[in-house]
Amino acid sequence: MTLLLFVTYKVRSTMFDKLIYIETFGCQMNVNDSERIVTMLADLGYAPTNDPASADMILLNTCSVRGGAEEKVYRRLANLRIYKRDGKKQIIAVGGCVAQQEGEELLRKLPYLDLVIGTHNLHLLQDMVRGAERGERRSETSFIDNDLRLDLFPSIKGESRLSRFVTVMQGCDNFCSYCIVPYVRGREISRRSSDILTEVRQLADEGVREVILLGQNVNSYGLKSDHEPSFAELIRQVADVDGIDRIRFTTSHPKDMSDELIACFGDIPKLSGQIHLPAQSGSDAVLKLMGRGYTRESYLGKVRKLKSIRPDIVITGDIIVGFPGESDADFEQTLSLMEEVRYIDLFSFVYSPRPGTKAAELSDDLPRAVKMARLNRLMELQRRHTMEISLPYVGSLMTVLVEGEGKLPGQISGKADIGRIVNFTGDSSLIGSFVDVRITKAYPNSFLGEL
Ligand code: 5AD
Ligand code: SF4
Repeated sequence: MTLLLFVTYKVRSTMFDKLIYIETFGCQMNVNDSERIVTMLADLGYAPTNDPASADMILLNTCSVRGGAEEKVYRRLANLRIYKRDGKKQIIAVGGCVAQQEGEELLRKLPYLDLVIGTHNLHLLQDMVRGAERGERRSETSFIDNDLRLDLFPSIKGESRLSRFVTVMQGCDNFCSYCIVPYVRGREISRRSSDILTEVRQLADEGVREVILLGQNVNSYGLKSDHEPSFAELIRQVADVDGIDRIRFTTSHPKDMSDELIACFGDIPKLSGQIHLPAQSGSDAVLKLMGRGYTRESYLGKVRKLKSIRPDIVITGDIIVGFPGESDADFEQTLSLMEEVRYIDLFSFVYSPRPGTKAAELSDDLPRAVKMARLNRLMELQRRHTMEISLPYVGSLMTVLVEGEGKLPGQISGKADIGRIVNFTGDSSLIGSFVDVRITKAYPNSFLGEL
């Protein structure tokens, strides 16, 4: 998802004498990395700030999954460099997927840039920043494809919150034909389950109530290893940790969604009743060109199983419109898949060719107007589905993990089991607890309720 998030994490009390400004683009993996960057730089005396003008270091944590996001990074860098013009000593750094993809080239193109930090190189960050403080310019983008990487998984540090991401695997071996992720995040590697469980237990001790197991393709967790559990078994082990009351995971590849994993939704009450299961297209011809490894029918079969095992499950997804060769009939198949699945929320994207991917060699000759018309029709249908699925919740009770202040004064807010935000009037002393809230109104992106 192409979100731009301003990272304002609290860090341990350290002696801060410098400020770091971070902008995070893209997926949760980047958000997670940005958190880690904040804690790593706290050790060097940097406190986070929301003001780029006063920052001693500016870092863009970038995403290259779609073309637009990448260009935004270039534009943003061009804007941010003005802060360096006043002769002020300011470190400018690029991390994440654009850094991985462009490497040294970025340093060559942008004379005001100091650091390029690839996706496998965060462990070098402190050293790189110390060097940059002395005026060194450096780019590090080597992949680490050996067991050393097992010790480089991001792990928690700093102050806890109520809901935390726990990285369980990184990278992707699927090479879907449109996707740049395998090129910028490298090969799939599963973290040791013992490390994951240690981290989850530690989080629980610190008061965290919900964990979100994170990876590019969590369903293939452990498949490459003889001694690690399957993802389903890992979820069961996490569910056994006292203090953790809700578990989510993202992202799932439908092809690797096993019956064993589907069964978890039936008998692990802590497992959230929401799953993100990107279909990308509803047409077999397009799925084949995308190299997704499943058919429309096998995808729908998994959705049916999920719904029969947990009838109240809600499903979210991703769809790409305008993939090379997508005909009107293919697109209609996508709309009809949406009718069958009935997503509560859908992230939809216009296809954009990514350099080096297989699909980039296909002729991308659908007129932009056709792509946009398809996207608009799809979004229209989705708006209808979102409201049709949300309205029947009005009057029902939802268990909400209260995470903070709400939208309006006097309101508090949290996430329901189905992953939707619920705002309601309540005292901030409830932050951190699970409460039952009666839903009074449904909106496209949230619910209103009362205690
Ligand atoms: N063009 C458009 N959308 C893409 N995605 C990934 N690669 C591309 C691309 N080249 C979308 C997919 C994926 C989501 C994170 O981004 O839907 O699930
Ligand atoms: Fe990209 Fe496919 Fe891997 Fe997802 S599963 S990251 S879409 S290659």
